[in-house]
Amino acid sequence: MLVVKVNGKAHKVDVTPDTPLLWVLRDHLGLTGTKYSCGMALCGACTVHVGGEAVRSCITPVSTAAGKMITTIEGVGVTRTGKAVQKAWRDLDVVQCGYCQSGQIMSAAALLARNTTPSDADIDSAMAGTLCRCATYLRIRAAIKEAAKAAGASA
Ligand code: FES
Ligand code: FES
Repeated sequence: MLVVKVNGKAHKVDVTPDTPLLWVLRDHLGLTGTKYSCGMALCGACTVHVGGEAVRSCITPVSTAAGKMITTIEGVGVTRTGKAVQKAWRDLDVVQCGYCQSGQIMSAAALLARNTTPSDADIDSAMAGTLCRCATYLRIRAAIKEAAKAAGASA
């Protein structure tokens, strides 16, 4: 039995320590906003925050996340940066099919939490590897800039 703290709430889960965090979130806790795609840390669809860092939950053993604060797309909106990112995503109509977008938002929120004024290069480097088959990259970059402005203004 392991205890995981997700979106501010502790949960006991009966899983082996090497179970990927993604399956604990989706199958045991019902948090299906985090998506499965490649399962090999290649696409970013499964990105969540562990201890404030963006991680690929498909390859993260749950035991390495136990005891740390885990945040998913369902909980990211309670932080100032997460809220600003979600609002910018809506305002700029970033989403197309949507499948990659919780990973995009989680990667963007982690970036803005550590860098409030990211340059284009910072954005490209933080978002590299978070793939979008609908190619919404230009809107993603614009929304990150918009969110940075909004989060800075409300600081
Ligand atoms: S599903 Fe985890 S990186 Fe693709
Ligand atoms: S919005 Fe369709 S994969 Fe990104």
